[in-house]
Amino acid sequence: MTDTLITNATLINEGQRLEADVLVSGGRIEKIASHITAPASARVIDGAGCWLMPGMIDDQVHFREPGLTDKADLASESAAAVAGGITSFMDMPNVKPPTISHDALIAKLAMAQGRCTANYGFHLGATNDNIEAIKRVDGTRAAGVKIFMGASTGKMLVDDDTALEAIFEHSPLPILTHCEDTPMIEANAEKARARFGDEVPMRQHPVIRSREACIASSRKAIDLATRHDARLHILHITTAEELSLFSAGPMADKRITAEACIHHLFFSEDDYDRLGALIKCNPAIKTEADRQAILQAVAGDVIDVLATDHAPHARADKDNPYFSAPAGLPLVQHAVPSLVDQVTAGHFSAEQLVTKMAHNVADRFDIIDRGYLREGYWADLVLVDPTARTVVDDEPVLAKCGWTPFSGHVFDARVVATLVSGQLAYHGGKLSQGCIGEALTYNR
Ligand code: DOR
Repeated sequence: MTDTLITNATLINEGQRLEADVLVSGGRIEKIASHITAPASARVIDGAGCWLMPGMIDDQVHFREPGLTDKADLASESAAAVAGGITSFMDMPNVKPPTISHDALIAKLAMAQGRCTANYGFHLGATNDNIEAIKRVDGTRAAGVKIFMGASTGKMLVDDDTALEAIFEHSPLPILTHCEDTPMIEANAEKARARFGDEVPMRQHPVIRSREACIASSRKAIDLATRHDARLHILHITTAEELSLFSAGPMADKRITAEACIHHLFFSEDDYDRLGALIKCNPAIKTEADRQAILQAVAGDVIDVLATDHAPHARADKDNPYFSAPAGLPLVQHAVPSLVDQVTAGHFSAEQLVTKMAHNVADRFDIIDRGYLREGYWADLVLVDPTARTVVDDEPVLAKCGWTPFSGHVFDARVVATLVSGQLAYHGGKLSQGCIGEALTYNR
């Protein structure tokens, strides 16, 4: 593996900024110092004017393998991810067959080995009747336990209260929840069907997948976690009201944490007329006031983790009428540029960005030796020029589905280079050949 020296960058790490050089050797950060002389064989990347940050650890992606590889696969989506500054991902269990047993988890790890450009981890899925698998889950192989407390893509709804109590009581790993109340949504869907027939306007999506459904379900998850003292991480918060259910402050003090996703920070319901089903996702994108509240909650340390919920679907399927258009957006390729744009817009600081896209994710899931710029840690790095532009339509779409909801947009930030476990994964607008991610390991 070639050594890499990144010179003159502004390191953003652990709440501080530091002008320094970083030497990467043998996959790890060998040295951080104000001036490092390049070893003869090293590749040198000029980081002047750029931010060097730990790469994003995305705790919520849907890379569709096994079973749904017409939409995406681990190789295609992990390549798109490194272009977007993501160096590690954690994949969700709603694949075919679903990842709901030890064997399915091990099979997925084997599938990923040698094929992912980024480092990889997998969540075990909960069902109404797999509590024994959850109790026995190998915490050195699984990242967390995912519960769909609201039905979404895939039939993984956990709606049996006895099962939920048992999972919150016994899960040895952090629990991640998708919170939306399905009976409330079904009642709203029936009303919409009665009013519009099959031609429901896409703007009705946040009316059907309503804020009340999100709030009720998030309340329920927090009640369960509080009674069982479980470690709960509620995914993709979309309403201002839900934010008041969480406490503000450093993540180290919390058992219950909250995640926000890049599309809920970027789009609002005003975008449905322009983008229609392309931005249909669950939970739904809601009002501009909600978007602003979530941005403020990132700044106020109510939101602990930033993620993508990358969920690709075929472009043609998005042309279907409301009820049959699938929910989910491909997002990884623009993850870090979109977040740096939020920093530039003044919504939160670059230090907070790094805390929530890398440090907190590593801490929340007990990830070993990643998520920080520290000597001896794996060199998972993203070098970003916060003044250069990313013209979305000038770049090839790397996700297998071949489309992006950001088409037409220009981000005011650019990923210059991404290093994954010390290997150059992306540089100068191009993917590097031969970069192979490692399985994440967990300190449990
Ligand atoms: O919009 C979504 N799409 N939300 C989810 O929870 C699942 C995801 C998918 O897998 O398509």
